[in-house]
Amino acid sequence: MPKPEWLTNPWKQNPWFESVAVAQQRARKRLPEPVYAALVAGSERGQSMSDNEAAFRELGFAPHVAGQQAKRDQATTVLGQQISLPVIMSPTGVQAVHPEGEVAVARAAAARGTVIGLSNFASRSVEEVVAANPQTFFQMYWTGDRDVMVQRMERAHAAGAQALIATLDWSFSMGRDWGSPEIPEKVDLKTAVRMAPKVLRKPRWLASFARDLPDLTAPNLAAPGEGKGPTFFGAYYEWMTTPPPTWDDVRWMREQWAQLSGRPFMLKGVCRVDDALQAVDCGVDAISVSNHGGNNLDGTPAPIRVLPSVVDAVGDQVEVLLDGGIRRGSDVVKALALGARAVMIGRAYLWGLGANGQAGVENVLDILRGGIDSALLGLGLSSVHELTPEHLVIAPGFARELGVPRRS
Ligand SMILES: Cc1cc2nc3c(=O)[nH]c(=O)nc-3n(C[C@H](O)[C@H](O)[C@H](O)COP(=O)(O)O)c2cc1C
Repeated sequence: MPKPEWLTNPWKQNPWFESVAVAQQRARKRLPEPVYAALVAGSERGQSMSDNEAAFRELGFAPHVAGQQAKRDQATTVLGQQISLPVIMSPTGVQAVHPEGEVAVARAAAARGTVIGLSNFASRSVEEVVAANPQTFFQMYWTGDRDVMVQRMERAHAAGAQALIATLDWSFSMGRDWGSPEIPEKVDLKTAVRMAPKVLRKPRWLASFARDLPDLTAPNLAAPGEGKGPTFFGAYYEWMTTPPPTWDDVRWMREQWAQLSGRPFMLKGVCRVDDALQAVDCGVDAISVSNHGGNNLDGTPAPIRVLPSVVDAVGDQVEVLLDGGIRRGSDVVKALALGARAVMIGRAYLWGLGANGQAGVENVLDILRGGIDSALLGLGLSSVHELTPEHLVIAPGFARELGVPRRS
């Protein structure tokens, strides 16, 4: 029997949306409540999560009235990858919210000419994702022993990953003041019946999984020869019980990846100047100034506030990216004006994915591209490479400087 048009045509399922905020509203309406809450994430009282967005509101623009540029260019590179706009997909681990998950995000990123960062907690394999988008960066946490980590790097390299992202900012905080969603160990009949009252209220979401129920395993953490990989909880347990990394471990990880692949390495989660300098010393090629989207140690300032001090300290020794709180093209422009080479987005594309699958992620990227273009037009610039702090209005007391070595 042919599928009804509302299942096959994404724009019938969910028409074009005009902002990331609207995508979020649509995702909230469409997804079962625990699934939506898993994307909201955050930690403790949500101070960092809300500062990530609020900080962008403290930055304004100084536009021109005439003399603007008719052509404006957004193309750039990140870790050697040519991208058509200064935005890449930050790795996120909860994409079983959609049957195609990371593969839909990878296709959308490829269709719009940019990179996908793939989490080691992803629900789809690195091989499938690279097939959908050869511009894939593989992300790893510090989990398992060194042999296991090397195996995972080898697999990502063999699959064709173009760079490795090491995410090390995680402090295993447990609670949230707004309550955490239930994430089942696996979706079997018993779980389906128990969670039915919440899930059956969203029949369209359920229908999209008609053939395969969400599979909550981490295939990229499978041991060689093992099929599916551990469940999310199995993977989390391994991570929790791995002793935290030292700077020597960071150096080791970068060297292993460089030796086996010859490809670049990014350290994600830097928010202090001293750490940024240590990362440079370890030989990384890029850092992402980030507080894990406000999911790590609550109270960490928004990355956009600490970006100028980090950029100042590292200069052009490494590529500096930023992630956290990007919801519109003008946020991207503000981050670039304060020295980021490009940004990584998390929730913005997850809302697009939740709202409308691949088409929704493409919609989000189009919104960001449109917003970047408007800002460049207003500022009288012809390229994202011309942005400087002089293009911004910066509220007094905006910046934070963390871990700046004292001068004696
Ligand atoms: C639901 C969710 C899952 C995430 N999973 C990962 C992950 O597996 N690996 C990782 O490096 N970062 C992860 N992050 C952090 C993102 O990569 C990124 O740092 C953050 O989302 C940026 O903030 P934004 O959501 O405001 O754009 C996750 C974030 C969210 C919201």
